Amino acid sequence: MRLDRRLANLGYGSRRDVTRMLRAGRVTRVDGTPFARDATDPGEGVLVDGEPLDPRTLTLVLHKPVDLTCSHRDPGATVYGLFPARYSSRRPTLSTVGRLDKATSGLLLLTDDGALLHRIASPGKSVEKSYIADLDRPLPADAAARLSRGDLVLRGESTPCRPARLETLDELCVRLVVTEGRYHLVRRLLAALGSHVTKLHRERIGALTLPAELEPGAWRTASAQEVQDAQQPAP
Ligand code: URA
Repeated sequence: MRLDRRLANLGYGSRRDVTRMLRAGRVTRVDGTPFARDATDPGEGVLVDGEPLDPRTLTLVLHKPVDLTCSHRDPGATVYGLFPARYSSRRPTLSTVGRLDKATSGLLLLTDDGALLHRIASPGKSVEKSYIADLDRPLPADAAARLSRGDLVLRGESTPCRPARLETLDELCVRLVVTEGRYHLVRRLLAALGSHVTKLHRERIGALTLPAELEPGAWRTASAQEVQDAQQPAP
């Protein structure tokens, strides 16, 4: 592949933009020698303005703050605004692995690896997602048993939800572990049992816990181990 094409796929600009960058000598080898306009992609050792090229496959770990949506198309503030603008022009597209709603915070993965996204987000894969929910009133005493049966049908749906694991942390705070990704699933499951969720935070996907050093809005690329951990199916 030509280097200008790879740069365009990585979101550095249109083919015309990256040709201009190459002409201007902004794309160099590690020793500083500029690449020719029609250079072949050497695979390794390419710098843009002195910085290493973004990786071919990008997987990010984000501590999603509240008030941002996960949509590509939302006219308001989205999580994509937290990253360099070129990440939104990458081909293949960078997408969230499942979604957190606007009012939910916590662990969110983004990737341009479609197979990885499927392995984590597909209901058939049974990857656990663990949430901490604050409630407006205590749940009934049989809430954990009802959620664990896997026969709860949410309003407007025809198939029962998969079994979910409820742990009471205190009277108005619970941990709920689910293995599917239906729309507003946690809020709707808890609403079906009589409590309104006032605050929702995702703490874990598979065996990957939200890294403690990531403040709300902070992100970094995922390590190979983290990518592995996030795919771990439920025990
Ligand atoms: N369940 C919800 O209700 N909201 C989320 O963001 C994720 C799971």
